[in-house]
Amino acid sequence: MSADFSRRHFAKLAGLAALGAATGVGAAESETPASAGRGAPFPKDFLWGTATSSYQIEGAVNEDGRGKSIWDVFSHTPGKIEDGSTGDRANEHYHRYREDVALIKALGVRAYRFSIAWPRVFPDGTGQPNPKGLDFYNRLVDELLASGIEPYATLYHWDLPQALQDRVGGWQSSDTSKAFADYAAYVAARLTDRVKNVFTVNEVGRFVNFGYGWGIDAPGLKLPAVQLNQARHHVALAHGLAVQAIRASGRAGTRVGAAENIAACVPAIATAENIRAAEIATRELNAGFLGVVLEGRYTDGFLAYAGADAPKFTAEELKIIGAPTDFVGLNIYAPQFYVTASDRAPGFHVLPFPTSFPHMNSEWLRVGPEVIYWAPRLAAKIWNIETIYISENGTSSEDRIAADGQVYDLDRIMFLRNYLTQMQRAVAEGVPIRGYFLWSLMDNFEWIFGYGKRFGLYRVDFETQARVAKLSAAFYRDVVARNAIGV
Ligand code: BGC
Repeated sequence: MSADFSRRHFAKLAGLAALGAATGVGAAESETPASAGRGAPFPKDFLWGTATSSYQIEGAVNEDGRGKSIWDVFSHTPGKIEDGSTGDRANEHYHRYREDVALIKALGVRAYRFSIAWPRVFPDGTGQPNPKGLDFYNRLVDELLASGIEPYATLYHWDLPQALQDRVGGWQSSDTSKAFADYAAYVAARLTDRVKNVFTVNEVGRFVNFGYGWGIDAPGLKLPAVQLNQARHHVALAHGLAVQAIRASGRAGTRVGAAENIAACVPAIATAENIRAAEIATRELNAGFLGVVLEGRYTDGFLAYAGADAPKFTAEELKIIGAPTDFVGLNIYAPQFYVTASDRAPGFHVLPFPTSFPHMNSEWLRVGPEVIYWAPRLAAKIWNIETIYISENGTSSEDRIAADGQVYDLDRIMFLRNYLTQMQRAVAEGVPIRGYFLWSLMDNFEWIFGYGKRFGLYRVDFETQARVAKLSAAFYRDVVARNAIGV
């Protein structure tokens, strides 16, 4: 391990990291695409979409029998959300979904990724289902299909039933993994006649570390590494059990996979050695979730690094976790690690970021468009993935309303143009990215930042609930219509 990539840095990754496990020496690789660049088309069947999640847009938190989620409790805890807001009302999407589906349609996209609120369907986490909760998603799915939009449903985008947190400690217990499988089976039996694609869990790399490790997301716990690693293992198990449950209870042919914020590693300079180093780093730094899901094992490096803090697991669990899936969703925003090659184990060197490195309106969102090229390319190679969706990508912007009432979000357009150009480059080279879901359809409750960070293609006035298309909506509509990035 290099000096500047210290144990402390690893610890901050909360168990993602591991050492040592080189996977063989890769041949030198070319990074020059066959035909790429602005103006070059995407494949004919490339799937353009947009995305949201339940707690961030639905509101109606006390309606039709919905139970509480950990985010209801967390957002109502003073001091947790920057602007003191909650998702109580959010975008009132629960009541305005028809209007919102029309907004999706106006973009010309073919797909919409939304999430299902577990506590609407099982208010208590397990046991008695609440049919009225599921009915909302029936209505939404029907509306989408009637509008020619393919629904992509996510089962877990962080709104765990509070009852499970209270009863068994949430993801600290494998009871939650089993409860998740029952919930998945119930939903699959009722929606997969129309919903053909299901994401199991969203961004394990964030919600486990932030919620159970650093205590800055719900449920706000600061667990020691051993318990954190165990919680992550329970989520991986939940994913695997849900895959089984969907296959058993859903319509045959239902496609399923996870959506993960892959720890995205980029070669600082794209030499063959650095590309190889980025590959090693990608595998090791994602060993705690993506790796175990896609390989059915934790890497030796991960286990060695975790030592006594390693999760406890059985061979049977690894088999469940590693069962084949139909696609991998990658949420890609910022480059997380720029790496170079190192002669010393584990074979890569993580470079420090200069403080002058540019970022978008959200400080964490460093601008590095090439990340959407490298992360899928490296992931596809390491894990032999055949179908990748970019399940989220986008940016916040100040989004001020100009004197003429419009929102000229030129920074978002700049961001998208550059990221999409890099994605096109990957596709042109044969990286198996089959679709892209822009985050987000509309401004919404941005977790700990409340309504202060706006990620939407549509601006939302949270007082009046008026939605106004930003300039970036016109930009995206143009990309989708041409199936290419305008020059
Ligand atoms: C999450 C979204 C979030 C977005 C922007 C992702 O981490 O899945 O829920 O709003 O990034 O921060």
